[in-house]
Amino acid sequence: MRKKIIAGNWKMNKTFDEGMALVSELSNMVKDEYNGSAEVVIIPPFTHINAISRMVAEISNIQVGAQNCSNHASGAYTGEVSAAMIASCGAKYIIIGHSERRQYFNEHNDWLAKKVDAVLANNLTAIYCCGETLEEREANKHFEVLHAQVSEGLFHLTKEQFSNIVIAYEPVWAIGTGKTASTAQAQEVHAYIRNLVREKYGVDVANHLTIQYGGSVKADNAVELFSAPDIDGALVGGAALQSRSFVDIIKAMK
Ligand code: 13P
Repeated sequence: MRKKIIAGNWKMNKTFDEGMALVSELSNMVKDEYNGSAEVVIIPPFTHINAISRMVAEISNIQVGAQNCSNHASGAYTGEVSAAMIASCGAKYIIIGHSERRQYFNEHNDWLAKKVDAVLANNLTAIYCCGETLEEREANKHFEVLHAQVSEGLFHLTKEQFSNIVIAYEPVWAIGTGKTASTAQAQEVHAYIRNLVREKYGVDVANHLTIQYGGSVKADNAVELFSAPDIDGALVGGAALQSRSFVDIIKAMK
């Protein structure tokens, strides 16, 4: 059975103290209320990773991740943070290619492929994001866009490396808008992505690949989304900023 992952991407939210308070509540609630199979991943800003990793170190179903990393290993790149630094703070995952980074920081597939390499070189797992804009969907170009994002960002990897890849499908039009993709729309895209991976790497790699959905996931749509055969979890934004709403999403994954 493939791994189910519910991750909370805090984006640029929460001061240090606010973040610690949230993790303290969240970890207690997960311990008390959740005995399902999903792994929970907290993805705070860089500045909080080390402290949160220490707080959750004893809780086996909670891990920590970062929202981005440099494509360089080290050196004179002021303001950048390397995958090795993130690993040394206790994180296990790094999001690569979030649509906000593609959109506001001009990150393209070829650039992202190098970041994926940096993640894997440090024995971490990359959560590689893909997703079309509203304009692309309305022009019926979404499969073409997804094909390019997935193949150009990931298909240079070996079969072995692919076991440290998670893909997150996040349609841009559903992020922070309150407008979720329907379960049928998400399932259709997840099956398409899994099929691309099957064609390239074979059935075993494809069957083991965790594909998360992201975009306005809430407790009241999570149960239905998670019932789809190719939806293996969620990458949650806004609803991960409060313990109650995030735990209710986690609990939707049995
Ligand atoms: P929202 O859940 O706020 O729509 O954000 C989704 C997202 O971008 C997670 O990475």
